[in-house]
This record gives sequence, C-alpha cells and structure tokens, in this order.
Amino acid sequence: MIKVMHVVGARPNFMKIAPIVREMAAHQNTFQQILVHTGQHYDRSMSDVFFEDLAIPEPDVNLEVGSGSQAWQVAQIMLRFEPILLEHRPDWVIVVGDVNSTIACALVAAKLNVRVAHVEAGLRSFDTSMPEEINRILTDRISSLLLTPSEDANENLRREGVNESNIVFVGNVMIDSLVQVLPKATMRQAELLAQINAGTRYILATLHRPSNVDDPERLKEIVQALNRIAGDIPVIFPVHPRTRQRLADMQIDIANSIYLIDPKSYIDFLALQTGAALVLTDSGGIQEETSFLGIPCLTLRPNTERPITITHGTNRLVPPGEDISSAVFDSLETKIIKKPSPMQLWDGRTAQRIAQALISTSLTT
Ligand code: UD1
Repeated sequence: MIKVMHVVGARPNFMKIAPIVREMAAHQNTFQQILVHTGQHYDRSMSDVFFEDLAIPEPDVNLEVGSGSQAWQVAQIMLRFEPILLEHRPDWVIVVGDVNSTIACALVAAKLNVRVAHVEAGLRSFDTSMPEEINRILTDRISSLLLTPSEDANENLRREGVNESNIVFVGNVMIDSLVQVLPKATMRQAELLAQINAGTRYILATLHRPSNVDDPERLKEIVQALNRIAGDIPVIFPVHPRTRQRLADMQIDIANSIYLIDPKSYIDFLALQTGAALVLTDSGGIQEETSFLGIPCLTLRPNTERPITITHGTNRLVPPGEDISSAVFDSLETKIIKKPSPMQLWDGRTAQRIAQALISTSLTT
C-alpha cells in the first residue's frame, strides 16, 4: 500500500488533483489517499464549486488558512500542515502547480523527510518578480519526483542539474479534467450564454495577477482597453475577488458591454472558453486550455512559463507597453492566430502515468 497525501489550496489546483484522486481511487489496493485543503481559497465560487464540478471527495483536512501577505500565508500553511503530516506520516506528499500552498507543504514535507512528488514540475517564466516562479523553483528543488507536462520543462530541470531519474514526463494533467468535463460544458453553453445575455460572439477576459491589478495605473490602462474593445464586441469578464476589490477602489467608468460577472465554476468557465471569439487573460492554466481547445488567446504578461502554448498552441503574449485593444482587433480581423498542433502527452491520460510513476518509484526506492 502506498500512502499519499494530496495538497490543494487555490483554484488552479483543483482541476489538477481531481484526475489523480480518481485514478488512485480506482486502485484501492495500491493507494491509500488523504486529501488536505489548505483553505488558501475559501469563497464558494473559488473552491466548493470546483469540488462539485470535478467530483472531488470532501477534503479529509481543511487547514482554513485564508488570505494574507505572501509570508503570512506560507507561514500559516506550514504551521498548520506540520502536525497533520506528523499525524498521518504518508509515504508521499503530492503537490501540484505553483501556488503558495504548493511550496509551503512541500517544504514541511521535505524537512520531515517525507518524499514530495511535484505535478507540473519544471515550468519556468524566468521572472522572479512573480511569486509563482519562486514557488516553482523551490518546490522542484526539494521534490523527489518531478512530474513534467512538456519537453521544455524537462529541459529546464536538466539545465538546473536535476538527476534524470527523478524526472518523469507525464503530460498535462489539467487536460485530463478538461476532456472529461468538456461534454457537460458543451451542453451547458447555450443556457449560460442566455443567462449572461451578451450574445454569442464575445471576448472572454480574466485578470488577477498582482502585476496587472495591484498597480492602479496598469489596471486603468487595461480597463480603458477593455472599454475600447467592448465598443466593438461584448466582453464577458468573470471577476476574481482580488480584481473586484481593486476595481472597487478605483474611480473608473466601465462600459455597459463589459459583463462583469462572479467567478465561474469549472464547467461554466469551460463553456465560456469554448464559445469565445478570443480569450484575454493573465492566467497560466487558461493559456493551456485555450491552446488545447484551439481558441485564440492573448496573454497580458511579458513572459510565460508555458512556452509550448506559443510554439504549439494559440497563445500570444501582449506585454505591458503593447496596445491591448489593437492586439485584440488585429487578432480578430486578420485571424493571425495559428491553428494549434498536438502537444505531446496532453491526451487525457496523464493521471494514469502519474499513478504509475509513483508505483515504480515506490518499488525501486
Ligand atoms: C493565487 C495564486 C496564483 C493563482 C491564483 C488563482 C499564489 C502566490 N498565487 O493567487 O498563482 O493563479 O491563486 O486564483 O499562490 N480572495 C478572496 N476569496 C478567496 C480567495 C482570495 O476574497 O477565496 C481574495 C483575498 O482578498 C486575497 C486575494 O483574493 O487577499 C488574493 O488571494 P491569494 O490566495 O493571496 O492569491 P491569488 O491572487 O488568488
């Protein structure tokens, strides 16, 4: 029996852990699972609805950490996770992605000599002004098993001197969730669009990165660009709680044809992506989802840790300084965004390979 403790904390973790939990549950004689939610995200729309859409079992433990500064949040997660880990003493702690919960729990586990498996290892933006980049580098450094989504991630790890035997190229686990839920999203689309009432040709926008929303000048520039875009084509904008706070603090007119709505569930957001003429985002995962779906994506960042979405997918970066509305209009008019080419091992079977990698590594060490 291999005893694994899964850690989730924030919205982008849930679609990554769901297929792994399901796969391991199908091998009950091999895996014993414990699911820990740190509580980094706690609003119903940022957490509970994802458990429902993705049929993730109730967490066994919720650390109920909540929001705070980077240091406070990481420290609180560590303090609350340590006794849980000592109580259960798993063989492995499985962490996903690059959020504060990922590094905090990986660090606690590594210090207690519990092996860490990092899902989505090896991604690098080479921009340490992003908290996520620091989380990625440090988590990879202390993980025993580095489960990578793409060849560029393998190369990054090799360049950093990681032992080849610790790297397993498993593919993109988020695509497992996407392909599983896509039929439901397709069925849901018409009803959802009727509710929002923005029509069927629209831009989908999401924004939450500190670099875009915490600086009032930058946020103003983006909202003004959205206003110009919305003069031509409606913009559906599910608003992250962080962004909602920042917008409320600002005195700025927002066009009526920008539909500010609450954050959407996984199925609903997928439905909105599949119907969009173009997606404008600063998210990491959405770059991958749009690339897989073949929907044009413009990413409001100077860099990406997911270069495969540019080389193989539909993603294009719009760095600060570049005119956002022109980039959108150019993409819509000239359809310059290319067709995606297949991304290796983004095939809906990554969770199987992850489970297999854990079995193989547990047997050989
Ligand atoms: C976190 C991740 C980011 C990920 C994003 C997805 C880190 C460093 N960042 O950023 O990589 O892309 O999640 O959403 O881990 N808030 C609520 N309700 C919630 C959660 C947050 O109101 O359920 C508000 C709080 O005011 C909080 C702010 O949003 O201070 C930011 O939340 P936080 O978890 O610190 O980071 P995110 O911006 O969500």
